Amino acid sequence: MPLPKAELHLHIEGTLEPELAFELAARNGVTLPYADTEELRTAYEFSDLQSFLDLYYGLMAVLRTEEDFAALADAYLARAAAQGVRHAEIFFDPQAHLARGVRMGTVVEGLGRALDRAETVHGVSTQLIMCFLRDESAGSAMEALEAARPYLAPFGPITGVGLDSAEVGHPPAKFREVYEAAAALGLRRVAHAGEEGPPAYITEALDVLGAERIDHGLRCLEDPEVVARLVRDRVPLTLCPLSNVRLRAVGTLAEHPLPAMLDAGLLCTVNSDDPAYFGGYAEDTFDAVRAALGLSPEQLRELARNSFTAAFLDHDEERRSRYLAEVEAYEFP
Ligand code: HPA
Ligand code: ZN
Repeated sequence: MPLPKAELHLHIEGTLEPELAFELAARNGVTLPYADTEELRTAYEFSDLQSFLDLYYGLMAVLRTEEDFAALADAYLARAAAQGVRHAEIFFDPQAHLARGVRMGTVVEGLGRALDRAETVHGVSTQLIMCFLRDESAGSAMEALEAARPYLAPFGPITGVGLDSAEVGHPPAKFREVYEAAAALGLRRVAHAGEEGPPAYITEALDVLGAERIDHGLRCLEDPEVVARLVRDRVPLTLCPLSNVRLRAVGTLAEHPLPAMLDAGLLCTVNSDDPAYFGGYAEDTFDAVRAALGLSPEQLRELARNSFTAAFLDHDEERRSRYLAEVEAYEFP
């Protein structure tokens, strides 16, 4: 039995496995520029974030109907459950779909259909976080938030907003207004920062956007003052070690600074980001960091505990306590 954990940094479009991509392509009459799944997999050789994003956005062409989005999320939730995920706060990129002529309702109702049955079918509680594409305009982000209005909690599944896509040159402050609007609507706020961008973007995400968690945040290590603040304020970081290796933010997994970050007192969590592209779902990632970094069972337990501490479960503390008790009771094989 895998260690119980929460997944807090997971792009649902990044769970599109080659097999499902080809199945949906056939169903929707979409021609992919790859002969088969094997040829597609050989394209998963990335030099940086942008080289990944090009493929990630390209492959989304196969996602067209509510059924497609439901199938995508169902497949992810089944895998996540098998890997010990008890709670998932799932990102999606509405602007990437709106730009292709796929309506917000198609995306959210499709994903929502899978999320609605996730607890009964897979034993996984879920939330949905809409991410703004930082390389698009602030106006486009505001339009996406407007389009999402009917689907915001408590009436729909969307509980928060995030910020992703190409980071360098797109500082958080560009999205001040839309984050203010999101806060006024009662949404939780997270943001990718310090993946490829400088530590100053982390500070800006906290100060200007009111981010409650930082996605990645790896480059905080370049600025001791930023580290000190993250430690002092217990700001969770949703690290994605396999992603960092595949997108070349770190050289090898054995060189990942996760142990040093834990030692520094940072509230670290370990997540899978885009598992279909980066080679591992939640427990695969825990296994990989344990093997490469020699983490002890107690360090793994700390990471699992942190994932539930950092989860947006403030409205259901009883559930959080239940999950935390499962972490404490877990016996390592
Ligand atoms: N970083 C930024 N944007 C993204 C990522 C990522 O790792 N995955 C999907 N969109
Ligand atoms: Zn990400």
